[in-house]
Amino acid sequence: MQLIQFTGTSNLTEKAVELICQIVKEKPDATLCFACGETPRPVMNGLIQCHEKGSVDFSRVTLIGLDEWIGVGRETKGSCAQMLYDDFFTPMGFKEDQITIFNGLSANLSDDIEKINDLVEKKGIDFLLLGIGMNGHIGLNEPGEDPNQNAHLVNLSATTKKVMSKYFSEEIAIEKGITLGFSQLLNAKTIIMIATGERKAKIVKQIIEQKPNPQLPASLLKLSKNESLFFIDKEAASLLD
Ligand code: F6R
Repeated sequence: MQLIQFTGTSNLTEKAVELICQIVKEKPDATLCFACGETPRPVMNGLIQCHEKGSVDFSRVTLIGLDEWIGVGRETKGSCAQMLYDDFFTPMGFKEDQITIFNGLSANLSDDIEKINDLVEKKGIDFLLLGIGMNGHIGLNEPGEDPNQNAHLVNLSATTKKVMSKYFSEEIAIEKGITLGFSQLLNAKTIIMIATGERKAKIVKQIIEQKPNPQLPASLLKLSKNESLFFIDKEAASLLD
Protein backbone atom coordinates (compact mmCIF):
# COMPACT_ATOMS: atom_id res chain seq x y z
CA MET A 1 0.00 0.00 0.00
CA GLN A 2 1.43 3.33 -1.03
CA LEU A 3 0.56 6.36 1.09
CA ILE A 4 0.15 9.55 -0.91
CA GLN A 5 -0.38 12.79 0.95
CA PHE A 6 -2.04 15.72 -0.81
CA THR A 7 -2.02 19.34 0.32
CA GLY A 8 -5.70 19.77 -0.50
CA THR A 9 -8.78 17.69 -1.18
CA SER A 10 -9.08 19.17 -4.65
CA ASN A 11 -5.72 17.89 -5.91
CA LEU A 12 -6.42 14.53 -4.24
CA THR A 13 -9.71 14.38 -6.14
CA GLU A 14 -8.10 15.45 -9.42
CA LYS A 15 -5.48 12.69 -9.14
CA ALA A 16 -8.09 10.02 -8.38
CA VAL A 17 -10.27 11.16 -11.29
CA GLU A 18 -7.25 11.19 -13.61
CA LEU A 19 -6.31 7.64 -12.60
CA ILE A 20 -9.83 6.28 -13.07
CA CYS A 21 -10.15 7.97 -16.48
CA GLN A 22 -6.82 6.46 -17.50
CA ILE A 23 -7.99 2.99 -16.48
CA VAL A 24 -11.20 3.34 -18.51
CA LYS A 25 -9.34 4.74 -21.53
CA GLU A 26 -6.99 1.75 -21.46
CA LYS A 27 -9.79 -0.75 -20.79
CA PRO A 28 -13.19 0.61 -21.90
CA ASP A 29 -15.02 -2.44 -20.51
CA ALA A 30 -13.35 -2.19 -17.09
CA THR A 31 -15.20 -3.26 -13.93
CA LEU A 32 -15.46 -0.51 -11.36
CA CYS A 33 -16.57 -0.72 -7.75
CA PHE A 34 -17.34 2.38 -5.66
CA ALA A 35 -18.08 2.93 -2.01
CA CYS A 36 -20.89 5.36 -1.31
CA GLY A 37 -20.98 7.94 1.50
CA GLU A 38 -19.29 11.31 1.84
CA THR A 39 -15.71 10.43 0.90
CA PRO A 40 -16.14 9.39 -2.76
CA ARG A 41 -18.57 12.18 -3.68
CA PRO A 42 -15.97 14.69 -5.01
CA VAL A 43 -14.40 11.96 -7.15
CA MET A 44 -17.83 11.01 -8.49
CA ASN A 45 -18.46 14.68 -9.32
CA GLY A 46 -15.14 14.84 -11.14
CA LEU A 47 -16.04 11.76 -13.19
CA ILE A 48 -19.43 13.26 -14.01
CA GLN A 49 -17.61 16.32 -15.40
CA CYS A 50 -15.41 14.06 -17.57
CA HIS A 51 -18.52 12.28 -18.82
CA GLU A 52 -20.28 15.57 -19.58
CA LYS A 53 -17.24 16.92 -21.45
CA GLY A 54 -17.13 13.66 -23.38
CA SER A 55 -13.43 13.24 -22.60
CA VAL A 56 -13.87 9.59 -21.56
CA ASP A 57 -16.38 7.02 -22.78
CA PHE A 58 -17.88 5.17 -19.82
CA SER A 59 -20.59 3.43 -21.84
CA ARG A 60 -18.99 -0.01 -21.65
CA VAL A 61 -17.87 -0.18 -18.03
CA THR A 62 -19.45 -2.55 -15.52
CA LEU A 63 -20.40 -1.26 -12.07
CA ILE A 64 -20.43 -3.57 -9.07
CA GLY A 65 -21.87 -2.51 -5.72
CA LEU A 66 -19.62 -2.63 -2.67
CA ASP A 67 -22.19 -2.81 0.11
CA GLU A 68 -25.68 -2.03 1.36
CA TRP A 69 -27.71 -1.74 4.55
CA ILE A 70 -30.19 -4.57 5.03
CA GLY A 71 -33.80 -3.39 5.15
CA VAL A 72 -33.56 -0.36 2.89
CA GLY A 73 -33.82 0.05 -0.86
CA ARG A 74 -33.23 2.72 -3.46
CA GLU A 75 -36.30 4.69 -2.40
CA THR A 76 -34.83 5.30 1.07
CA LYS A 77 -32.65 8.40 1.10
CA GLY A 78 -29.35 7.31 2.62
CA SER A 79 -29.25 3.78 1.23
CA CYS A 80 -26.17 2.96 -0.83
CA ALA A 81 -28.40 2.32 -3.85
CA GLN A 82 -30.00 5.77 -3.54
CA MET A 83 -26.66 7.53 -3.15
CA LEU A 84 -25.00 5.63 -5.97
CA TYR A 85 -27.88 6.14 -8.39
CA ASP A 86 -28.62 9.79 -7.59
CA ASP A 87 -25.06 11.02 -7.10
CA PHE A 88 -23.32 8.94 -9.72
CA PHE A 89 -25.02 6.32 -11.89
CA THR A 90 -27.84 8.52 -13.21
CA PRO A 91 -25.70 11.63 -13.94
CA MET A 92 -23.16 9.33 -15.62
CA GLY A 93 -25.88 7.94 -17.86
CA PHE A 94 -25.11 4.32 -16.94
CA LYS A 95 -27.63 1.82 -18.27
CA GLU A 96 -29.25 -0.79 -16.03
CA ASP A 97 -27.39 -3.62 -17.72
CA GLN A 98 -24.09 -2.03 -16.64
CA ILE A 99 -25.05 -2.09 -12.95
CA THR A 100 -25.10 -4.90 -10.37
CA ILE A 101 -25.56 -3.80 -6.78
CA PHE A 102 -26.91 -5.37 -3.60
CA ASN A 103 -30.62 -5.00 -2.89
CA GLY A 104 -31.10 -4.43 0.83
CA LEU A 105 -34.76 -5.36 0.45
CA SER A 106 -34.18 -8.65 -1.33
CA ALA A 107 -36.26 -11.60 -0.16
CA ASN A 108 -33.48 -13.88 -1.28
CA LEU A 109 -30.15 -12.48 -0.19
CA SER A 110 -28.28 -15.72 -0.73
CA ASP A 111 -29.19 -15.63 -4.44
CA ASP A 112 -28.02 -12.01 -4.63
CA ILE A 113 -24.76 -12.92 -2.91
CA GLU A 114 -24.20 -15.79 -5.33
CA LYS A 115 -24.93 -13.56 -8.33
CA ILE A 116 -22.50 -10.87 -7.24
CA ASN A 117 -19.83 -13.44 -6.29
CA ASP A 118 -20.17 -15.02 -9.75
CA LEU A 119 -19.83 -11.65 -11.44
CA VAL A 120 -16.74 -10.67 -9.43
CA GLU A 121 -15.24 -14.10 -10.11
CA LYS A 122 -15.93 -13.80 -13.84
CA LYS A 123 -14.90 -10.18 -14.44
CA GLY A 124 -12.60 -9.31 -11.51
CA ILE A 125 -12.46 -5.74 -10.26
CA ASP A 126 -10.27 -3.40 -12.28
CA PHE A 127 -10.77 -0.41 -10.04
CA LEU A 128 -11.99 -0.04 -6.47
CA LEU A 129 -12.68 3.25 -4.67
CA LEU A 130 -12.90 3.00 -0.89
CA GLY A 131 -13.68 5.22 2.07
CA ILE A 132 -12.85 4.31 5.68
CA GLY A 133 -15.29 3.96 8.54
CA MET A 134 -14.55 5.66 11.86
CA ASN A 135 -13.70 2.19 13.22
CA GLY A 136 -11.57 1.32 10.20
CA HIS A 137 -14.23 -0.69 8.41
CA ILE A 138 -13.98 -1.13 4.66
CA GLY A 139 -17.20 -1.55 2.75
CA LEU A 140 -19.10 -3.06 5.64
CA ASN A 141 -16.31 -5.42 6.65
CA GLU A 142 -16.34 -4.70 10.35
CA PRO A 143 -13.43 -5.06 12.82
CA GLY A 144 -12.75 -8.67 13.78
CA GLU A 145 -14.40 -10.31 10.79
CA ASP A 146 -12.78 -13.17 8.91
CA PRO A 147 -10.98 -11.48 5.98
CA ASN A 148 -11.10 -14.69 3.88
CA GLN A 149 -14.63 -14.12 2.68
CA ASN A 150 -16.45 -13.19 -0.49
CA ALA A 151 -19.75 -11.26 -0.34
CA HIS A 152 -21.46 -11.87 2.97
CA LEU A 153 -23.92 -10.62 5.55
CA VAL A 154 -22.53 -8.61 8.44
CA ASN A 155 -23.70 -7.71 11.93
CA LEU A 156 -23.07 -3.98 12.12
CA SER A 157 -20.78 -2.76 14.89
CA ALA A 158 -22.00 -0.27 17.50
CA THR A 159 -19.81 2.44 15.91
CA THR A 160 -21.26 1.88 12.45
CA LYS A 161 -24.83 1.92 13.80
CA LYS A 162 -24.11 5.25 15.46
CA VAL A 163 -22.31 6.86 12.52
CA MET A 164 -24.74 5.66 9.84
CA SER A 165 -27.50 7.93 11.11
CA LYS A 166 -25.75 10.78 9.25
CA TYR A 167 -26.93 9.28 5.95
CA PHE A 168 -30.62 8.97 6.84
CA SER A 169 -33.12 11.77 7.25
CA GLU A 170 -35.12 9.85 9.85
CA GLU A 171 -34.15 7.47 12.63
CA ILE A 172 -33.84 3.98 11.26
CA ALA A 173 -32.94 0.74 13.05
CA ILE A 174 -30.55 -1.31 10.95
CA GLU A 175 -28.66 -4.24 12.43
CA LYS A 176 -27.14 -5.88 9.36
CA GLY A 177 -25.36 -5.04 6.18
CA ILE A 178 -24.13 -6.87 3.12
CA THR A 179 -20.70 -6.35 1.62
CA LEU A 180 -18.08 -7.66 -0.74
CA GLY A 181 -15.39 -9.40 1.32
CA PHE A 182 -11.63 -8.97 1.48
CA SER A 183 -11.02 -12.06 -0.67
CA GLN A 184 -12.54 -10.06 -3.50
CA LEU A 185 -11.34 -6.58 -2.56
CA LEU A 186 -7.67 -7.52 -2.26
CA ASN A 187 -7.70 -8.88 -5.80
CA ALA A 188 -8.79 -5.57 -7.31
CA LYS A 189 -6.18 -4.45 -9.84
CA THR A 190 -6.11 -0.84 -8.64
CA ILE A 191 -7.43 0.34 -5.29
CA ILE A 192 -7.68 3.91 -4.10
CA MET A 193 -8.60 4.19 -0.43
CA ILE A 194 -9.35 7.80 0.52
CA ALA A 195 -9.40 9.53 3.89
CA THR A 196 -10.17 13.23 4.06
CA GLY A 197 -10.78 15.65 6.91
CA GLU A 198 -9.67 15.88 10.50
CA ARG A 199 -12.27 13.39 11.72
CA LYS A 200 -10.34 10.62 9.93
CA ALA A 201 -6.91 11.61 11.35
CA LYS A 202 -7.01 9.16 14.28
CA ILE A 203 -7.93 6.15 12.19
CA VAL A 204 -5.38 7.11 9.51
CA LYS A 205 -2.63 7.12 12.16
CA GLN A 206 -3.70 3.63 13.33
CA ILE A 207 -3.75 2.31 9.75
CA ILE A 208 -0.25 3.61 9.08
CA GLU A 209 1.18 2.37 12.39
CA GLN A 210 -0.38 -1.10 12.57
CA LYS A 211 0.55 -4.29 10.79
CA PRO A 212 -2.29 -5.69 8.67
CA ASN A 213 -4.85 -7.19 11.05
CA PRO A 214 -8.59 -7.97 10.89
CA GLN A 215 -9.33 -5.78 13.94
CA LEU A 216 -8.51 -2.81 11.73
CA PRO A 217 -9.90 -3.84 8.33
CA ALA A 218 -8.41 -0.85 6.45
CA SER A 219 -4.92 -2.08 7.45
CA LEU A 220 -5.55 -5.23 5.37
CA LEU A 221 -5.13 -3.15 2.22
CA LYS A 222 -1.39 -3.46 2.94
CA LEU A 223 -1.75 -7.12 1.88
CA SER A 224 -2.78 -6.24 -1.68
CA LYS A 225 -0.29 -7.51 -4.24
CA ASN A 226 -1.69 -5.11 -6.82
CA GLU A 227 -1.71 -1.32 -6.97
CA SER A 228 -3.08 -0.21 -3.59
CA LEU A 229 -3.01 3.55 -3.04
CA PHE A 230 -3.93 5.37 0.13
CA PHE A 231 -4.81 9.00 -0.64
CA ILE A 232 -5.05 11.36 2.33
CA ASP A 233 -5.39 15.11 2.61
CA LYS A 234 -3.56 17.42 5.02
CA GLU A 235 -6.26 17.22 7.72
CA ALA A 236 -6.43 13.42 7.66
CA ALA A 237 -2.61 13.36 7.88
CA SER A 238 -2.51 15.79 10.81
CA LEU A 239 -1.61 13.17 13.48
CA LEU A 240 1.12 11.47 11.47
CA ASP A 241 4.73 12.05 12.57
C1 F6R B 1 -19.95 2.77 2.09
C2 F6R B 1 -18.69 2.19 2.56
C3 F6R B 1 -18.17 2.60 3.90
C4 F6R B 1 -17.74 4.08 3.89
C5 F6R B 1 -17.18 4.50 5.24
C6 F6R B 1 -16.84 5.97 5.27
O1 F6R B 1 -20.28 2.22 0.84
O2 F6R B 1 -18.08 1.41 1.90
O3 F6R B 1 -17.09 1.79 4.25
O4 F6R B 1 -16.78 4.27 2.90
O5 F6R B 1 -18.10 4.23 6.26
O6 F6R B 1 -17.98 6.74 5.08
P1 F6R B 1 -17.88 8.30 4.79
O7 F6R B 1 -17.21 8.43 3.46
O8 F6R B 1 -19.31 8.77 4.73
O9 F6R B 1 -17.08 8.88 5.89
